[in-house]
Amino acid sequence: MSTRVELRRDAGPVGPHQGPWVRRRQVGKVWGPGDPAQLAELTDHRGQTLAWGLIGPDSEITLRVVSFGAAAPPADWLLRRLDAALAGRHALGLRDDGATTAWRVVNSEGDGLPGLTVDRYGDDMVLQIATAAMAARQAELAAFFAARTRGRLFVVTPAQAGEREGFTPAEQLHGDDARLEFREHGLQFEVPAPPAQKTGAYLDQRDNRRLVAELARSCGGRLLDVGCHVGGFAIHAAALGVDAVGLDQSARALACARANAARSGLAERCRWVQGDMFAALDDAALAGSFGVLVFDPPRVASSARDVSRAAGAMTASLGRLLPRVQAGGFAVVCSCSQHLGGEVLDAAMLDARAGAWTRVHALGPGPDHPVWPGHDQGSYLRVHVYQRR
Ligand SMILES: C[S@@+](CC[C@H](N)C(=O)[O-])C[C@H]1O[C@@H](n2cnc3c(N)ncnc32)[C@H](O)[C@@H]1O
Repeated sequence: MSTRVELRRDAGPVGPHQGPWVRRRQVGKVWGPGDPAQLAELTDHRGQTLAWGLIGPDSEITLRVVSFGAAAPPADWLLRRLDAALAGRHALGLRDDGATTAWRVVNSEGDGLPGLTVDRYGDDMVLQIATAAMAARQAELAAFFAARTRGRLFVVTPAQAGEREGFTPAEQLHGDDARLEFREHGLQFEVPAPPAQKTGAYLDQRDNRRLVAELARSCGGRLLDVGCHVGGFAIHAAALGVDAVGLDQSARALACARANAARSGLAERCRWVQGDMFAALDDAALAGSFGVLVFDPPRVASSARDVSRAAGAMTASLGRLLPRVQAGGFAVVCSCSQHLGGEVLDAAMLDARAGAWTRVHALGPGPDHPVWPGHDQGSYLRVHVYQRR
């Protein structure tokens, strides 16, 4: 027996322009078993078919659409989408050329596969399963990826996703000391295997790390990498001859950063400081001026209610850090909170009252992080580059 999700008469517009999520408050009634392992039909209140999708009976998002229109997707839709995601990366030029061996293979809604994120690190694959519907397909997903890698397969669940979405998270398939190794633009990196931080190495910033390194080389001066994780921005800059200081609160991430710099023969160019980016930073390594400041905090606003507090904290930190950037230098200010958009970053720069700045780049993630047009929640990473005037 199939499941039909019937919208309320007053559900508001539902279609490609509104994105793939149908929320519980828009739903009048769910007919049938509500089995997350099966595709469900979405109808308007008169029974007219609008779309097909993945049901989350216990989720605030009742349905994640996989295709709009009356025609049901083919029975092998999942495998077809997975194949298309892999072929899409290949066509983007992401293939194992030895210089870069880590990229996002599946980006959830952006690949028509809501609830599934897959990153590859060399031969290893990390599958992040975030919904009941994808959890119900875990065996099929694991078989698909196991057949396509010689490396290890890690299956992880984001914090609280099981509780929020109503499923039992997969058992984590690795020990505490596991490491993922990969190359990025010719540099060798390792990260703690997930779930230490998200799916591992913030691959969404991969191309920005190289661009910022080039800016640092061209403007001269040191680079200060605040929220450095395993040292990505700092090490890319050091590889271009820039002295760099990385700061993070995670001792585990800093240990990897130190090892990563050493692997590329850049230990002498990098210094690592453990500290709180939202506090006064008075470590001696942070004294003096910098050509580039990278400020890449964690997700500081998880809902619209958090925005003003998070923006205030960013403004206060920027107020302390921006005066250290030399004239002509750059501030790279990042947000990975969907609710903290580019306009909030601009406002924080203005409110920090730290001299004259102009925005020279508005960046996002690389093309291996595609977004379903109309799905605003998929556009979470903003990276603004400002130049001091
Ligand atoms: C979005 S990640 C940064 C990614 C990194 N820039 C990269 O390119 O890989 C945020 C980082 O901030 C660190 N972090 C979180 N809260 C912090 C705090 N209060 N002070 C310093 N670092 C913090 C996390 O450990 C994490 O490494």
